[in-house]
Amino acid sequence: MINKGIILSGGMGTRMSPLTKAVNKQLLPIYDKPLIFYPLSILMLANIKDILIIVNKGQLDQYRKILPLDNNLGIKISYVEQKSPNGLPEAFLLGKKFIGNSNVALILGDNFFYGQSLSKTLRSCTKLKNGAKILLHRVNKPERYGVAKLKKNKIISLKEKPKKFVSDLAVTGLYFFDNKVINYTKTLKPSKRGELEIVDLLKIYLKKKQLNAEYLGRGGAWLDTGSIEDFYKTSSFVSAIENRQGFKIACLEEISLNKKWIGKKEIANSIKFYGNCDYSKYLSKLI
Ligand code: DAU
Repeated sequence: MINKGIILSGGMGTRMSPLTKAVNKQLLPIYDKPLIFYPLSILMLANIKDILIIVNKGQLDQYRKILPLDNNLGIKISYVEQKSPNGLPEAFLLGKKFIGNSNVALILGDNFFYGQSLSKTLRSCTKLKNGAKILLHRVNKPERYGVAKLKKNKIISLKEKPKKFVSDLAVTGLYFFDNKVINYTKTLKPSKRGELEIVDLLKIYLKKKQLNAEYLGRGGAWLDTGSIEDFYKTSSFVSAIENRQGFKIACLEEISLNKKWIGKKEIANSIKFYGNCDYSKYLSKLI
């Protein structure tokens, strides 16, 4: 069972400069909330309450301003700084103490997931005891992502940003690992671009026949907010759904309330914290 999760929320955000010169990308808005709310909501939907956020050096105070009341969410948030973006697997070295003897989930701070039966899929992933599990999704431009090639429903190979077509099944930025991930990460060497690569880590599990996949089917949406274009597309997506249905995507307090991790008192505290805004109005409707 996985009950610890890491959000990797650092990176230089160079592709979105000058927007990201003073503010980390994950604190910029996706429609009506900071981007960080979305990956955080995914871990919460997976019933993960113990969360480590890895942030860029010098950005910690800003995160604490946006997420100061983790007890009002019924979860525990801790932070670690990453000095420079040395690669996604560095999360397991920086998070070694936090992980302890547990298994762990990792979500990239710029990944957005939405869709029917997503919570069910997430809860099935957190049942992992041994090995690793990834979430695959079909995409139009696989050359932008890590991809997995399958044969008879089994992963046979993985490739990071393939120049030539290998498969259109992208490895999304949500991963579930057993505790061996810390030791396996220690054996990784930086790639040609000078980073530890998540695909190299997954290949270790693949070689041991311990890598499995779940699928985010056609009814699910996975968006990577890597570029300004993708950022605005994701914002429009959230705006369209929220305005049509009247429900919010990634309202952290609503998730906690539904899970009975918090009650009316904590919602009232959050309303006070956010002040007079649409998000608060939505929260008051919940109670
Ligand atoms: O989004 C899914 C893709 O994410 C996967 O399909 C790829 O296999 C995986 O390598 C990754 O590719 P990206 O090119 O999107 O990774 P990027 O370097 O953009 O980093 C993703 C996020 O993680 C980004 O918000 C910055 C953050 N990050 C990245 C690195 C390398 C860190 O916080 N620290 C880091 O050291």
